[in-house]
Amino acid sequence: MRLRLLVVAVVGLVLAGSLAASAQRAPLPVPSPRRTLSESAPRQLNGVYTVDQALRGQVLYRKACAYCHMEELTGGGPQDSLITSPPLVGPNFRSYWVGRPLEHLVTKIATTMPKYSPGSLSRQEAVDLLAYILWESNFPDGATELPADSDELESIPFTEYK
Ligand code: HEC
Repeated sequence: MRLRLLVVAVVGLVLAGSLAASAQRAPLPVPSPRRTLSESAPRQLNGVYTVDQALRGQVLYRKACAYCHMEELTGGGPQDSLITSPPLVGPNFRSYWVGRPLEHLVTKIATTMPKYSPGSLSRQEAVDLLAYILWESNFPDGATELPADSDELESIPFTEYK
């Protein structure tokens, strides 16, 4: 009986210790506000699309996506509906996709969006839409378009700002 009490006490102490340790962990950094295009982003997402491509994506976005994800990509729409769409910019969006290959994001767009007519976009259109999303997140543009090739997109991870 004593032994059992002792065990309970020891386990309790260890648990309390680890709780205290996690409480002492440094707070997560506050996400920085949106940056201007001239500021640098991490290597992996540096210059992976062109401005022309992002502009093509923007035209498409306004037609097919803004209704739900809003013009500024901030999500929350459509106003007159029970569904609420997530933002496609900002810390929550980035933290969800960080570390995952761009291929996953393109597949998500190409196979599930627009919500009520999935599969209506070509793969090229989904890639152009992603270029626009990256542009809106202020990742710098480059001289080469984001490729539609799955293997290439598989090799580029979505990254957090540095
Ligand atoms: C009718 C409303 C609607 C339209 C139009 C729409 N979406 Fe969505 N979208 C949603 C909803 C709701 C979700 C969350 C549920 C889900 O992931 O399926 C979502 C999720 C997403 C996600 C995943 C976001 C995340 O972080 O999980 C992406 C990317 C996306 N949409 C892109 C697009 C693009 C690009 C278009 C235009 C081609 C588009 N959507 C059109 C409603 C919509």
